[in-house]
Amino acid sequence: MQCATARHARLALMSALTIDRIAGALGAELTGLDLTRRLGDGELDALRAAVVEHKVVFLRDQHYATQHLERLTEQLGGHGHTPFLEAMPDHPGVVKVVREAHEGGFNFGGAWHSDWSFQPAPPAFTLLWSVDVPTFGGDTMWSNQQLAYETLSDGLRATLDGLDVVHSAGWAYSADGVLARSAKGRSMQINTTDDALSEHAHPAVPTHPESGAKVLFVNPTYSVRFDGWSAADSAPLLQHLYAHSTRDAFTCRFRWTPDTLAIWDNRSTQHNALNDYRGVRRELHRTTVAGTAPTR
Ligand code: SIN
Repeated sequence: MQCATARHARLALMSALTIDRIAGALGAELTGLDLTRRLGDGELDALRAAVVEHKVVFLRDQHYATQHLERLTEQLGGHGHTPFLEAMPDHPGVVKVVREAHEGGFNFGGAWHSDWSFQPAPPAFTLLWSVDVPTFGGDTMWSNQQLAYETLSDGLRATLDGLDVVHSAGWAYSADGVLARSAKGRSMQINTTDDALSEHAHPAVPTHPESGAKVLFVNPTYSVRFDGWSAADSAPLLQHLYAHSTRDAFTCRFRWTPDTLAIWDNRSTQHNALNDYRGVRRELHRTTVAGTAPTR
């Protein structure tokens, strides 16, 4: 009896949440939640269901405080491990993603990727809360990797179903990687090291642990080669998959306003922070939620 009452309360809360899709492939704006207070179980279930279904959700006009970001991260499953990036003082799981107005060049997150896909258990979700957004540019894009998988030909899907992909942070974070080479004058604190060269293999097509859908799990930032294949043998097929998986038809693009929280599912998306805001400042605060090892 009590169970039925709790379920009804949950359903009522779910219907209080308004969901407006922002694109055909993925992405939705949510209204009806106030993140300045701790979410109740029903609200949390509804939020989680919306993230898994829409893959990235946006909550605008949510007053930012570091504690709100930390509390929601804990409620969604606890902080993931964040390598290479210096956390904010007194907030070990929170990273300031910032580029000052005078900085040019590389922007953090400015290539298609799924967060920390080289980890044995990559993060389930990432939370990114806007603090200072540019008056122009600085949008972020996401791409739906379930749709990317489902639109491959039967033959390629069958081939990929049996393959593993090796991932590494080396291209980005090694001592002579892209971020080391572009470090001069950068305000964001990034610790590049050859520890980044270590490798970890995951299925090319894991089953999403919550939706049960098969998803393509490769990305041009961290995928290195198919397991058991040379880099040269892997390159043509990987390049084909990178181009396919980020086709316009699978993406959404989000225009940030201050005090907006984005939550995305790294198990079913890639994302890319567009580098088109030269001359203006951009600051967002980021956490990840711990995930599990991808499995078939
Ligand atoms: C990231 O890749 O986590 C950063 C995305 C962004 O700054 O829009």
